[in-house]
Amino acid sequence: MFNSCSSKSKLSTVNERVDTLLTQMTLEEKIGQMNQYSSFWDVTGPAPKEGSAAVQFEQLKNGLVGSMLNVHGVENVYKLQKIAVEETRLGIPLIFGFDVIHGYKTITPIPLAEAASWDLEAIELSAKNAALEASAAGINWTFAPMVDVSRDARWGRVMEGGGEDPYLGSKIAFARVKGFQGDDLSNPSTIAACAKHFAGYGFTESGKEYNSVDVGTQTLYNVIMPPFKATIDAGVRTFMNSFSQLNGVPATGSKFLQRDILKRDWNFDGFVVSDWGSIEEMVEHGYAKDEKEAAQLAVEAGSDMDMQSLSYVENLADLVKSGIVDEKLIDDAARRILRVKFELGLFDDPYKYCDLSRESKILGNQNLHNASLDMAKKSIVLLKNQNQLLPLKKQGLNIALIGDLANDKTSPLGNWILAAEKNSAVSVLEGLKSYSGNNVEFSVGTKLNTGALEFAKELKINTTDKSDFAAALKLARTSDVVVMVLGEHGLQSGEGRSRTNIGLPGLQQELLEAVYNINKNIVLVLNNGRPLVLNWANKHIPAIVEAWQLGSQSGNAIAQVLYGDYNPSGKLPMTFPRSVGQVPIYYNYKSTGRPTLPSPGEVFWTHYQDEENTPLYPFGYGLSYTTFGYKNLKIQSQTDTSIKVSVEVTNTGNLEGKEVVQLYVKDHFARPAQAVRNLKGFELINLKPGETKTVQFLLTEKELGFYNNNGDFTLQSGEFSAFVGGDSTADLSTNFSL
Ligand code: GLC
Repeated sequence: MFNSCSSKSKLSTVNERVDTLLTQMTLEEKIGQMNQYSSFWDVTGPAPKEGSAAVQFEQLKNGLVGSMLNVHGVENVYKLQKIAVEETRLGIPLIFGFDVIHGYKTITPIPLAEAASWDLEAIELSAKNAALEASAAGINWTFAPMVDVSRDARWGRVMEGGGEDPYLGSKIAFARVKGFQGDDLSNPSTIAACAKHFAGYGFTESGKEYNSVDVGTQTLYNVIMPPFKATIDAGVRTFMNSFSQLNGVPATGSKFLQRDILKRDWNFDGFVVSDWGSIEEMVEHGYAKDEKEAAQLAVEAGSDMDMQSLSYVENLADLVKSGIVDEKLIDDAARRILRVKFELGLFDDPYKYCDLSRESKILGNQNLHNASLDMAKKSIVLLKNQNQLLPLKKQGLNIALIGDLANDKTSPLGNWILAAEKNSAVSVLEGLKSYSGNNVEFSVGTKLNTGALEFAKELKINTTDKSDFAAALKLARTSDVVVMVLGEHGLQSGEGRSRTNIGLPGLQQELLEAVYNINKNIVLVLNNGRPLVLNWANKHIPAIVEAWQLGSQSGNAIAQVLYGDYNPSGKLPMTFPRSVGQVPIYYNYKSTGRPTLPSPGEVFWTHYQDEENTPLYPFGYGLSYTTFGYKNLKIQSQTDTSIKVSVEVTNTGNLEGKEVVQLYVKDHFARPAQAVRNLKGFELINLKPGETKTVQFLLTEKELGFYNNNGDFTLQSGEFSAFVGGDSTADLSTNFSL
């Protein structure tokens, strides 16, 4: 029994307590800390090999397991913790991890939706509430925030991150870590965060899941790395490495990533967990000849904990005893893991997260739902509102509500919902009815999917059954307004959910056009986990609302926006393409040597023969029920390495509303060449009708500099332009030089 659990140790610092414990541990026990198993309630990866559960349970009792994931609820956590603390030689507590990606039981909008709010306070609160709820269920570590920048809507996991931009992504990453961890990790309402997936996963080739990643140093240092560095600045205590190879080296086996950048340059003293099975998968990558070599390469590269591949627990002891692996590497990994457990307070009270009364009081409480609703409203983006069709009147309307997703209470929860109750979301049908006196009638129009809904299984999309079309068309014919909820099921994005066709899945486009031919007064509400191709809708449909997958309060949030109780303020965190052929498409692209059309009809310039270069909706775009005007962009002051600019923003409409004032900077010539513009500041402001506010931005070396190809941060003198506006096409500009 580990006596420091019971008596308050005299050792003043965590590190001293860790070092003392390490001296008492056998090699096998230290390796045990590096071994993580999934519970048998959920698998978020390929299911454990047959019969391994019994072996893993024995190892747990012999002190050879350091962590579990996917354990549901205080009762189950307590059972397993009791074995670790009371039945093993040293009684070292387990750390319990879980994918608390967008809420635990009370589900919040998917992270890409939250990113659309640009509301860092709300995002931090969302993470704080998720930590409160998950910790009440016995969890002390989340595998979030996912901070992979991605420009590729074909990749299913764009739903999980902060979008295409490293500046917005960094601000969100910082806020989410602060939300999860708070300022005291030993507080039972906070949990350790995990920056993932280190690094480059968002650049998976052709948007195909688990594919290789080949990027240049400019993309690596100036796009991929900044959000990870922001989590370090926020004090993140764990990292998770990526399944992907980066330029031929699996991240799990990359000393460059884990030891050179993360642990040396960034001075990270937490621990790195592998992604599910990624150590053993280095054999499949063709990087390690067998599992034993994979274990050696991973521990040498700085992967501290092995998630569910058994590679460490089955090979490391032999590797050390045969002199191939230095035991110092084991000590360093075990030390990092034990340090976080001490910081969580698990040694002082291993059952601190096992309070059944707290669990029943906190899980799903009204405060959490209220916050989820607030976050959901702020995440909605108004893409089109021709002839002010929106907001809808609350009385006297006959509304046809059409679409399978309109009455779905599971899909709006999104993808990472392992602890949520299925069928627990407020549907659009429920929301529209509860927020108005209108006559709202529902017709499914077309089933989106058929068959079982399983996290690890393909979803079957209906591409043949049109039997519900007729009833929907009949209803549309006699209605004043048609609200159509179309898009993707929550299990059509997320891990393992890449798509090559990013239009409306199944028969939805056909249904939309059929309804349009009957009644053109359509409000299209999108439920989706990625940018979609919406050319036809953009051309024909008068009102389009991007409502992502908004979590438990989805229907209420959508209703409040459609009826004008909340004036939409969201801005796109990812570019929406005109066609999938443009992907990857993003706003901060590099100029080329031939960026413009030389003369009408000439072909020698950067373009496609069959598509425009511009997106359908640009990064940072979003409308309001009011309008905003920008003027008087001025340089207030300047030093050698900084500049302060100001701009006046006016609410030029007749409704109060929020605007995300965005500042972009262009470095006209630099070596290496920089993007045509980069987001370098934003401020979310609220303005009453007619109100004007002066917004100021300070640009310092941090914003004006960039990483060169050696990874050194540099600020080069030269000519710059600042652009300010309501999206990434802002053209109100001023010039300055440094
Ligand atoms: C999955 C995901 C990772 C998640 C982990 C545990 O494969 O890649 O993001 O945290 O396994 O569920």
